[in-house]
Amino acid sequence: MEWNWSSLTWLIVSLSAALLALLSWRKASNGSTKQRPPGPPGWPVVGNMFDLGKMPHQALYRLRSKYGSVLWLQLGSVNTMVILSAKTAAQLFKNHDLPFSDRKVPDAVTALGYNQGSLAFGNYGAYWRMLRRLCSTELLLSRRINETAILRQKCIDNMIRWIEEDAVASRAQGRLGEVQLSHFLFLFAFNLLGNLMLSRDLLDSQSKEGHEFFDAMNKIMEWAGKPNVADYLPFLKWMDPLGIKRNMVRDMGQAMKIAARFVDERVQEKQSGREKVKKDFLDVLLEYEGDGKEGSDKISERNVIVIILEMFFAGSETSSSTIEWAMAELLRSPNSMRKVKEELDRIVGPNRKTFNWELNSIVTPETMDMKEWMGITVLKLVPLKPIPMYYFV
Ligand code: HEM
Repeated sequence: MEWNWSSLTWLIVSLSAALLALLSWRKASNGSTKQRPPGPPGWPVVGNMFDLGKMPHQALYRLRSKYGSVLWLQLGSVNTMVILSAKTAAQLFKNHDLPFSDRKVPDAVTALGYNQGSLAFGNYGAYWRMLRRLCSTELLLSRRINETAILRQKCIDNMIRWIEEDAVASRAQGRLGEVQLSHFLFLFAFNLLGNLMLSRDLLDSQSKEGHEFFDAMNKIMEWAGKPNVADYLPFLKWMDPLGIKRNMVRDMGQAMKIAARFVDERVQEKQSGREKVKKDFLDVLLEYEGDGKEGSDKISERNVIVIILEMFFAGSETSSSTIEWAMAELLRSPNSMRKVKEELDRIVGPNRKTFNWELNSIVTPETMDMKEWMGITVLKLVPLKPIPMYYFV
């Protein structure tokens, strides 16, 4: 096409008109609509997504000084209300708890209907209340937690052994003997959940199924944690542009298949009359009988599988990241580390297996950076790799 003055003028006029339309749309979309709380103006399609930056909590804090403690944001096409003060949060929970009680369900966790049996993503109702009650009475009571001390000790012993072996192997290869702590803490948390939920050492070298389950669950957690554009622009869901849902369906299907085998084995065990001395969470779910007042009398086998998977999602990386973060803070602060050791000596006694941790000379406590992006989705800038120096019994 040949350019001339008239086509250039048309181009400039059209671009200016488009820009003006965009700016006036952005102004009009400023959350000052009567029913909505105030908020910054958004752009077409993306809304306020880019207003949050890399540190959303700090960006939100800054927005509070301009718009107050109830903020309206448009994340893609998702309406989002943000509560920015403890007082307003208390009022919200007191006066509007029910309408806001359900979580937003990411597209990935709708794979194979997972969200419908889930406690974390399911809707508030009779089934949800029953699950919540079961978790409180069967998992979280301090009496129950104390009863599982032996299992925790066993899993800690395993972890110490794995760390030792890895440090020895690393030294044999001419390295310093440093270990990637997050790896071992995650294996520990996963194995502990396997013991609490299924009475299985899933990561035992004998358990092929356990390793397959671990691999599938790892992939599921990866898909569940990946930011998905379809969650913010729901009209893209049918297309699944990043392939997250397709991958989730594949890996969730695999994890469910393995979990179904665990459940079938247990059902057969029960039918054969072999009673276990210590009941685990799978027994609790399979033996559940409703009181006939609300909800169904039994938990379906599919929902049993979903709940078991959920405990692995909810309990593994959360626990291991928290411990890793605490370790990083202790290594940054030798004084606090000394106090913790003194307290352990006083309360647990000196007669226990332990390591003396060191950081290599390149990573000093001052240079350690445990900054995280996006809250619970942990993307560590520097993975914690301390060196276990020795241990004593
Ligand atoms: C340090 C470790 C943990 C951290 C930091 C953590 C954190 C959280 C947070 C922030 C929530 C959302 C709470 C809410 O929205 O009200 C949650 C929910 C949940 N957590 Fe944990 N968690 C941890 C360990 C565990 C463990 C070990 C389990 C299971 C064995 C577990 C099971 C769950 C479940 C099932 C939910 C959903 C409950 C609901 O929707 O009411 N968590 N967790």
